[in-house]
Formats: sequence, C-alpha cells, structure tokens
Amino acid sequence: MNQPVSGFSKKSKEEKIEWLAENYLQNNPDSVQILKKYWNEDASLQQLHDDFIENTLSNYYLPFGIAPNFLINGKLFALPMVTEESSVVAAASNAAKFWLERGGFMAEVISTEKNGQIHFNFFGSEKSIEAFFEEVKPKLRESIQSIEKNMKARGGGLLELLLIDKSHILDGYYYIHASFETLDAMGANFINSCLEQMAHTFEEEARNFETFQKNETYPEVVMSILSNYVPECLVRAEVSCKVEELTTKHYDGKQFAEKFVRAIEIAKTESRRAVTHNKGIMNGVDALVLATGNDFRAVEAGVHAYAARNSYYGSLTHAKIENDLFTFWIELPLAVGTVGGLTSLHPLTKLAFEILQKPNAKELMKILAVAGLAQNFAAVRSLVTTGIQKGHMKMHLMNILNQMHASKEEKEKALEYFITNPVSHSSAVDFLKKLRG
Ligand code: MEV
Repeated sequence: MNQPVSGFSKKSKEEKIEWLAENYLQNNPDSVQILKKYWNEDASLQQLHDDFIENTLSNYYLPFGIAPNFLINGKLFALPMVTEESSVVAAASNAAKFWLERGGFMAEVISTEKNGQIHFNFFGSEKSIEAFFEEVKPKLRESIQSIEKNMKARGGGLLELLLIDKSHILDGYYYIHASFETLDAMGANFINSCLEQMAHTFEEEARNFETFQKNETYPEVVMSILSNYVPECLVRAEVSCKVEELTTKHYDGKQFAEKFVRAIEIAKTESRRAVTHNKGIMNGVDALVLATGNDFRAVEAGVHAYAARNSYYGSLTHAKIENDLFTFWIELPLAVGTVGGLTSLHPLTKLAFEILQKPNAKELMKILAVAGLAQNFAAVRSLVTTGIQKGHMKMHLMNILNQMHASKEEKEKALEYFITNPVSHSSAVDFLKKLRG
C-alpha cells in the first residue's frame, strides 16, 4: 500500500523521481531512464521548463508542425501547430491550399473586451446596495490606479463597472461586472489583480456606509475572478467563392456546396453533431493556441459556452449559398495574448510568433479564427465526400507501423502498398505480418 508523502515539493528532482519509482513504478525497471531520456541536455533550457510548474520530472513532447499557404486578408502565413492528432496539420494545409486558389481567408476583429466579476452576498434592501454601489464606484476605480498605470498608458485598463442583481435566482447573490481592455495581453493576471483590489476596497468602504451600519447588514465578497466567457471579445473569419469554383475532379461544385451547407445546418440543429463539429474546429484553434503558449483551457471553455449562448449547443460555423455565391464563416470569442505568460519564455513559442510575423493580439485572433475555419472546412469536406477515415487512417498509418516496430524498409513498403489499398488497423497489421512471413 502506498503511503501519503509530505514535503514532496521540497525534494530535489532526482529525489522525486526516486520516490516515484519506488512507490508507483516498482514493476518498471526502465522508468527512471525513460523520464531522464526526455531531459534536455542544455541545463539552462531544462531549468526553464522545470520552473514552469511544480514537481517537474521530465518533458512531454508533442509534435510542432507547420501548415503553410494561409492567405489571410491578402497576406501569406505559415501556421505553427502543436498537436498529437495525425491528420490535423495535413487537413489544415489542404484547406489553406484550396482557399489560396480561391481568394484566401478574410478576417476581422469585432470587439476586444474582456471581463471579470466580484461575486458577493447581500441580504439587505436592493435600494441600499444600489446607492452604495453608485457611491463606491469612483473609489473602486481609484483603488486600482497603481495596478492599472502601465496598461492605461498603453490605452487599456478598466472600462466599466456594473452592479448585477441575481438575488431572484440565488438568494442574496449579486456581482459587480467589470469590463477591461487588455490590449496585447490575455489579461488574466491584470484582471484578477484589479478585481481582488476592488473587492477589498468594496468591503472596506461598506463598513463606513451609513445605511448598512444602521441595519447591521453588509455585503460580503465571496470571490473575485475573471471570466473565461468573452462574447465581447469576438473575431470573424470567412471564405467565399462562386459555387462553380468549388468543382474539383472528384465532385461537382453545386452538389458539394449544397451538401456542405446541409452539414452545417445539421450541426446548427443537433447538439450531438455540433459537439463533434466544434471539436474539429478546435483541432485547428488549439494547435495554434498551444504553439503560441496561450491558455487552451480558457479558450476551449469560452468557445463552447459561446456555442451554447442561445440556450442550446450549436455549430460555431455558418454557411450559405446566395446567388451562386458560397460563403462559409466562423465567429469565435477568443481571449489570447501575444505578450506575457509563456509567450516570451518558451523558446518554441517565441519562434512561433516569429513564424507568424510577430502579430499583435488582434492579428492573432484573426489567424486563430482562420485556423478553426480551415480545419472545419477540411473535416466537413471529407465528411460529405469521401468520409474522414480515408485521410485520417492514411495519416494514422505511421502510428500503427511504429506501434508494431516496423523497420525503415517495412515502412516504405507499407506506404507504397497503402497508396491504393484502404488503411485500417487490421489491414496494416495483416500487411506487416505477411511481409514478415
Ligand atoms: C476529428 O478529430 C474531428 C472530426 O470528427 C470533426 C468533424 O466531425 O467535423 C473529423
């Protein structure tokens, strides 16, 4: 039976690995070596990674790939993508090439407002909390002057403070909704620091408010935190072309466009389809969010909440045919940064920004929306034509061959054979077995 451990974080890295091997990996004689194999031989680079989190033991590699030929608002980009899913980069590259020949992607930022809330309890009269809020509002602003100074100098900072009464849903529950402009920063630290300071001032000032004193009822802050739901930080990306331009040697443009639009309508109507549809979009978005050192959990949470904003969960993309013009577009709420966090710390993240030609946050929002739209185009195009397994399994073939420890020659033969034969797990295994006699 394993025992709890205390003071674990204070142990050295070697000691932590030893402890892990002794307590949880007794049956694996290679465990220590596996963990150490992934250490970087450049000690200062390794130290940088060790310091990202607590209790680092090793590094966990994911492929860093590139999808070229993205024409966005007339400018060419190659998108750095970090993902483990075999077909994602290939699909993105395909969609980029397809639209490169049809005018490329257009993208625009609609709004850039972030937000956070000070959630509090108040069991007195609605009038008294409203009166107090009006009185304290300037003091809340004043109290964050020093936190806001640099952000304000660059043109950002706190925008608005609103009192929201939710006591009809949860007894005594109110919050202060604060909106912010955080420019090129994702803004989580800035927003949270502002909120915590304002919450402190709010409670302190409440103690001196006469009506509260008279009734001996004071507001009590429960918590202060930014929201990852950012429907006021919105970007739109679009592709369009004449229906006949969609014709390829494999399909007729009109038929394809109609089936494609139908597939989007299905994803708008049925949540079971919408979730997978949007997952495909996030294959592209997350890969780029990861490559640029942004917080993919925040982006995921916000995007899916947005997909459910109309009280049901639906597609994040839209498509229509009007006057023989096919238009396909996406709208995404994205709070991302090009400064702060990992963006300037992780060497590969820095490189990703160089590859993207040093975008600011608004430009990054546009590129991300395009990545999502392109990924969705590639997925839905496959789904309504060949089915996805053909392309997916082709890309997955190498994983199956690696699982079976195929040699270089075996891989070459398999790749050749599966150009004309359908790939499945069993057909790849059978092929190797036959080859090996
Ligand atoms: C697989 O990772 C993503 C897809 O399922 C997305 C979709 O169904 O639209 C292909």
